[in-house]
Amino acid sequence: MSRTLSTTTQQPQQKDKDARALAAMLAAYSVSATFWLLFATGVGILLAFKFGAPDFGAGPWLTFGRLRPIHTNATFYGWASIALVGLANYVAARSSRTPMYSVKLAWSGLVLFNLAAAIGTIALGLGHNDGNLEYREWPWPIRLVFLAALVVTAWNLIGTVARRSTDDIYLSNWYTIGGVLWTCIVALVAILPWYQYGLGQVSVSGYYMHNAVGMWFTPLALGIFYYALPRLLSRPIYSYALGVFAFWTNLVFYPIIGAHHFLFSPLPWWLQTTAIVFSVAMLVPVWGGSANFLLTMRGRVRDLTHSYPLMFILVGVIGYLVGSTQGTVEAFRSLQEVWHLTNFTVGHSHLTMYGFVTFAIWGGVYALLPLATGKEPGRLGLMLHFWMAVVGSFIYVISLSIGGTIQGLDWKNGLPFIQSVVDMQEYYVWRGVGGALMFLSHIVFAWNVWRMTYGRAARVAPIAALPAGEAAA
Ligand code: HEM
Ligand code: HEM
Repeated sequence: MSRTLSTTTQQPQQKDKDARALAAMLAAYSVSATFWLLFATGVGILLAFKFGAPDFGAGPWLTFGRLRPIHTNATFYGWASIALVGLANYVAARSSRTPMYSVKLAWSGLVLFNLAAAIGTIALGLGHNDGNLEYREWPWPIRLVFLAALVVTAWNLIGTVARRSTDDIYLSNWYTIGGVLWTCIVALVAILPWYQYGLGQVSVSGYYMHNAVGMWFTPLALGIFYYALPRLLSRPIYSYALGVFAFWTNLVFYPIIGAHHFLFSPLPWWLQTTAIVFSVAMLVPVWGGSANFLLTMRGRVRDLTHSYPLMFILVGVIGYLVGSTQGTVEAFRSLQEVWHLTNFTVGHSHLTMYGFVTFAIWGGVYALLPLATGKEPGRLGLMLHFWMAVVGSFIYVISLSIGGTIQGLDWKNGLPFIQSVVDMQEYYVWRGVGGALMFLSHIVFAWNVWRMTYGRAARVAPIAALPAGEAAA
């Protein structure tokens, strides 16, 4: 009798402890990622204004060559990676209706991710750069620390899903575990020394760059959509089978398209053509996945207009659909002739990494963090964040898309290079204006995150105990 009593009182206590551990983990990942967002986009603003005032910020620390990789690496590996991993850990536990496999591993991952981002930033600031290898400019020992963080994360996610109390592995976990495992391979290939010279290096660079975005950020962001959308709408995802189909086609087509970054280079012509063909094939998972999300939202316009988390997710889905379709079009040789190396590509990078990945993270954080901590941000904060980020990124992407096209046509028509600089001037100013709005929205986001975690909440939300009723997941 006394044994039965102690188990029944212990069980809710244990569940409560697990739920608190999960909430603390998600809060710490979110706060830490937000710090990197503020830092990295502060640097982004500085970079943007350097186009108009190149002499601003003299001295080696503030040169464009040092600040640019600091911005790209800190947004990729500080902001997006840390935020996505926090959400992936949370989703794995909740959708598998089990506690995290190891709370300690989750915290170790956070420490390692932060360590890599901090030392990487300092190294780049001091001028220690691994060269022309885009998105892997951190000296290689630092990239090993990032790899260690990935391995720890993969271990924990697999462990959590293996302990699930559900029959199936929920779709989100296919995407996140697939993404983490693939990225361990990609990160390793990027470090191995015997590919790092000549044409092999070019090929590996394309492979690395595109798999970083396609097999890391993309699947983790899609994993958030598959979990948060059903939760917010209290209805299941439109088609589970379509989600699985999109997963496998993504896995088959994405790894082969990296060479489209190096069209017209000395890489074999057949390799470039293969990359173009599979860039077109990417329409299958992109349109399949986007249709699945949009059909899940069908007929729920009222919910959408009343819920900022849903609005963030809707923008993220549109960013995924439009940005990736734009990527397919961009891969054709006839259009690469105009757009390659122009600011049009920078517009594409931000349409995807910002309009898709960053909005997906925001949707996920606003949907899930209040469930974990029981604290909600105020509606004014949500509104300001949403509209400033939407309007700012719209101005950013549109100005660079138009300006980049003019720039490319100037080059193609053989005009003096300086003419393209003059023609770009006003578009650079508009990019700065859009960027300033985006940055302001990040300050509001930081305030909202604070209120959802350690600060005083605007509203109290119900804490969902673990592993109680997962709506539609
Ligand atoms: C799936 C369909 C996609 C295709 C076919 C595609 C295609 C392309 C192409 C052809 C370029 C090279 C442009 C050039 O150098 O002239 C490019 C660049 C880029 N794409 Fe995509 N893209 C796709 C989706 C995405 C997504 C979802 C993301 C982000 C999550 C992304 C992020 C980037 C970035 C950051 C660059 C700039 C790379 C650099 O610095 O050179 N793309 N993309
Ligand atoms: C306030 C917001 C932001 C501003 C003002 C900004 C500004 C900039 C600037 C000026 C560049 C250099 C472009 C060039 O070399 O011509 C750049 C590059 C880049 N930024 Fe941002 N950025 C912002 C947010 C972000 C975020 C949140 C991400 C990722 C999650 C991101 C990812 C990138 C990437 C991938 C590139 C390289 C683009 C390429 O080579 O095609 N940025 N950004």
